[in-house]
Parts: sequence; structure tokens; C-alpha cells
Amino acid sequence: PIPLLIDTDTAADDCFALLVGLLDPRADLLAITMVAGNVGFDQQVDNAFLTVGLAGRLGQVPVHLGARDPLVRPWLSAEDVHGDGVGGLKRPDDGHEASAEHAVDAMIRLAREHKGELRIVAIGPLTNLALAVQKDPEFVSNVGSLFVMGGSINARGNITPAAEYNIYVDPEAADIVFSAGFSDVVVISWDPLTITDALFDQGRIDRIAALDTPLSRFFVRANQATFDFDTAVGLAGSSHCDSLSVLLALDRSLSTAERRYRLEVETQGTLTRGATVFDWASDDNNVTAIETVDGERFFDYMLGMLATTPVIAQS
Ligand code: BDR
Ligand code: CA
Repeated sequence: PIPLLIDTDTAADDCFALLVGLLDPRADLLAITMVAGNVGFDQQVDNAFLTVGLAGRLGQVPVHLGARDPLVRPWLSAEDVHGDGVGGLKRPDDGHEASAEHAVDAMIRLAREHKGELRIVAIGPLTNLALAVQKDPEFVSNVGSLFVMGGSINARGNITPAAEYNIYVDPEAADIVFSAGFSDVVVISWDPLTITDALFDQGRIDRIAALDTPLSRFFVRANQATFDFDTAVGLAGSSHCDSLSVLLALDRSLSTAERRYRLEVETQGTLTRGATVFDWASDDNNVTAIETVDGERFFDYMLGMLATTPVIAQS
């Protein structure tokens, strides 16, 4: 299996992305690392443990706590989009605690232990990754591949007209990460093509609900706030770019078009803070952007995963 680390601001789609990493046999999910993002930090940690519990993996995959704030800017909540991120579900009293090892140290250690092999999927702001880049000079060359959900190729944002949330929240961190020289960076951006391919409309949600499994019931409940928000702003359904990013790290054949770019992040702009500038004519490219995916196959995969009922290990 693929040694995997997921860096997450766990709410809604992040939960489903964790399920992919926790349940897909092609993944050896070594760690979940938490970063400030979508909802309050402690709520995110509860959401992560709730998800690990639903997958029957408590005590098997450690949860590491990382940056509680962006590098230089105040934290910016996305609670208006996600609510608490789990539709009001409460984490059961599972008796498990976060690891004593800081998220950044866990990233650095795992990259060293799995040199050239570790795939990191970053589905929140890039604060933890930037700190790891700064703390260990060998981190960048130790990481195998880095998958980043963030940015917008066509400068169409979701938190502002110009910027996507994960990059907007900590643009300085994103700048550090994209300038760091990682050998293989794959970007899953917030763009009409990717978003259209990864949208779940009401018909798809109904098919998931009809499964009536513990995971499908969790999905429908945790996804409701995002569905309501996304459809209110004119999308045809809820967006699932985080889940798609983890799945792409396990199965690249889902990607139907990719292109190399020089990606740089706007850190100074007032109207354009956090905008990602994708230079399509550079001869010094630093990322591969996924431009289209097989959305049907992605949905079928999610439907199949949510149909399963994980065995809950006694611990
Ligand atoms: C990203 O922002 C967050 O709200 C989602 O979890 C996703 O990672 C989309 O812009
Ligand atoms: Ca996220």
C-alpha cells in the first residue's frame, strides 16, 4: 500500500476524504495531521476522531495536532459554509487522545522514514507544511509526492472572487510551500472543470441516502450544510474536491487531463490576496494541475465506499 499522510481542517468533505484514506486498501494511512481552517480547531479534532471511529480505525491511525493559526494572519472560519462540519453529530466518548507528537514533527519524521515514498495530501490551509519546510532542510527532498487541494487556475475563487479558501487563509504558507522545490506537486484546484466533475447533485445525494448504511447516513448529515451553501451560491450540488484529492493520490487514472504550470501565490494584493497565478508558458514549472477528472467514476467510487459497513474494532 501507498504510505499516506492527510493534512486536514476536518469538516464535511474533509471527513469523507479521511474515509477514503482510512478505508481504501491501497492506502497505508500513517497519520492524520490537523491544521487551522474550516471550523474551530477543537471541533475539527472531534470531527476527525468521529470519522476515524466510523471507519473502525480508532487506535490504528494517529491524529496529530498542528498549527492553530495561519503563519501571520488571523484565522478565518468557514462555519458559514460547513456549520460544525458533521451536521451536529457528537463525537462519542471514545477514550482516544491526539498524539503527543506535533503535526509538523510527525510530517518531518514520516517523510524521513518513508523517504521518496510518502504521499502527503493537503486538504486545508498549508500552514503545517510551510512549518515543516522551514523546520527541516531535508523535508522537501524526503517527501515523495505532495497533493494540494487549493487555488484556482482561472482565477475564480470561492472565498473571494479571486481566491480559493485554503490558499486565501494562509497565503504566506502557500507561497513557502509552492516555492520550496518539492519534486512532485499535484494541484487539485477549485475550478469549474474540476468542481463540475466533483459535484454531487440532489440525485446523487438521494442515491447515497438510499444506501442507508452508517457511512451513508453520516455522509448525508455531515454534507447537508455544504450542499445548502454550494447550491445557494449557484453550484449544481455539493463540492467534493478534498475526497477527490485523496482518491487521486491513490488512483491517478481518475485524472483525464493534466498540465504543468509555474504556480505562484499573491500575498500582497488587497482584492487578490491568496490568488494563484498559473503561468502556462513558463519553462520553470513547479506543479502539475489536474484539469479534468472522470466524475462518474469518482461518484461510483464514493457510492461503493459509503455502501460498506466497516467492522468496528473493540478497543
Ligand atoms: C476547500 O476549502 C474548504 O472549505 C474545503 O474543506 C476544501 O478543502 C475548498 O475551497
Ligand atoms: Ca478542507
